[in-house]
Amino acid sequence: MSTHNADPRAELKRQAAIEAADMVKEGMVVGLGSGSTSAFMIEELGRRWAEGLRFCAIPTSEHSAEQARSHGIKLVTFATHPEIDIDIDGADEVERGTLNLIKGLGGALFREKIVAAASRRFVVVVDDSKLVDRLGARVPVPVEVASFGWTSTARRLEALGARVTQRLDRSGNVFVTDGGNMILDCHFGEIADSEKLQLQLDRVVGVIETGLFIGRTSEVIVATAGGLQRLRAS
Ligand code: 5RP
Repeated sequence: MSTHNADPRAELKRQAAIEAADMVKEGMVVGLGSGSTSAFMIEELGRRWAEGLRFCAIPTSEHSAEQARSHGIKLVTFATHPEIDIDIDGADEVERGTLNLIKGLGGALFREKIVAAASRRFVVVVDDSKLVDRLGARVPVPVEVASFGWTSTARRLEALGARVTQRLDRSGNVFVTDGGNMILDCHFGEIADSEKLQLQLDRVVGVIETGLFIGRTSEVIVATAGGLQRLRAS
């Protein structure tokens, strides 16, 4: 694929993705993440599939499903495969130490969290620009909400301290997730207690899921100019 060429971090993303793809072994059930780093991972798994590696996969977005199908990778569902051996996905921010995440700038957070929750190992692939000391420092928390009554939901999110913006697509239309919902990007600034915030957001009526991934990460593969680093949850 040549679609990542405009991204100056693309080569680092590719290196992290290839390292993670190496963790996929014969016969595994694999969660396929979404976003540009995950796309490199799916591309690499497609190459290994062509060489004869056999596994099956549950994708976290229609886009990743389409890419996997284009390589002939076997896709399955939770109905036949309720447990996933390894889920490999990108992130928008990774908090040093806790390895808690913000995900969902690509809009796939709901399926991504369902797949991560069903996985024995959740491996995150990033370049080092994604590492932060505190979540929320650079990106908003994407929150998937029902379209019905969304302005009311937005008000309740603002009451929790967020500046809320409705996600639009590249054409300026309302962004619609694979589940048919919308995303409100909630700018909190640096989040002092992300676990508490997650609980508060979960209680807001109209919220379907949030991009805060707390206590889910098994390992982070970080690509830096000086080489790859592996961070494990302590
Ligand atoms: C999509 C996501 C992505 O994993 C996240 O946005 C990272 O994307 P990229 O690898 O393109 O930087 O959470 O919902």
